[in-house]
Amino acid sequence: MQSVSQLGYVRIGASEPEAWKKQARDFLGFEVVPGDDKSTFYLRMDEYHHRIEVNTKGNDDLEVVGWEVPDAATLQAIGQQLEDGGVRVAHGNREDADARRVVELIRFDDPSGIPTEVYYGRPVNPKRFHPTRSMSGFKTGDMGMGHMVVYQRNLQEAVHFYRDLLGFRITDYTELVTPGGTRTMVFMHCNQRHHSIAFMETPPMPKKINHLMFECNSLDDVGTGREICLANDIPVSIELGRHHNDRMFSFYMVNPSSWWFEYGWDGRLVDDATWTIEHYEAAKSIWGHPQLGNIAATMARPPVKQAAS
Ligand SMILES: [Fe+2]
Repeated sequence: MQSVSQLGYVRIGASEPEAWKKQARDFLGFEVVPGDDKSTFYLRMDEYHHRIEVNTKGNDDLEVVGWEVPDAATLQAIGQQLEDGGVRVAHGNREDADARRVVELIRFDDPSGIPTEVYYGRPVNPKRFHPTRSMSGFKTGDMGMGHMVVYQRNLQEAVHFYRDLLGFRITDYTELVTPGGTRTMVFMHCNQRHHSIAFMETPPMPKKINHLMFECNSLDDVGTGREICLANDIPVSIELGRHHNDRMFSFYMVNPSSWWFEYGWDGRLVDDATWTIEHYEAAKSIWGHPQLGNIAATMARPPVKQAAS
């Protein structure tokens, strides 16, 4: 079994690109990097050329997820695992790889239709990353750009796909109490980060993603980020607190595409040599996160019905 090694990049769609640029620079501390044309720009948070590709002609949602592997042999093995599991895999051509600034990639959809890529040849910018506001920067490196929570139509299908075909390991099962009853979330890791992806079973949702988490290097980075939200009327969806499972000290805010960022510090690390899967019943944060139920409520919400035209 071969495994992906980190959450390398995401591509998102943004109908309000200027608002994204402002929030990236003023709140997140990310560099805004011009794209090759007007329909794309990039956000940089570490030594990579970028971690987020913004499509200014897209809808306000997650468009592509990129998982990294170290080399061509691993990419080929992952592709074979997927095909053996019945997944249709497309091999990206030179143009596709150039668009992501990597050496080679494969493409496929996850069980809920999230366009997914696996690649090698990480796009490195050797110039030192300088946060665009006064802060210490981000914990990325071999742990990837952060973590994300995405919607899945079938929990067991999702676990099978990410564990048995992409090589993730289950970190824990968390039971969240929601207005509609208890719902199970599964958190999965592919490196030392407690989870790079987590999901809950939901009916089809208006967006593919619930939130993307960035881990800062210091507690003060989170605190000053919270102050920036306060000063600029950026809506905070979940207040400061420390999570039960990854022990992340964090808060959540609403980005210009109306999904959430989690901005955190001091997440727990996983050692595969000693880790045993955990189970949290009626999970609550250790302290704070007073509206944590919002995650479950948002994920449990039925889809927005489009008016008939
Ligand atoms: Fe999170």
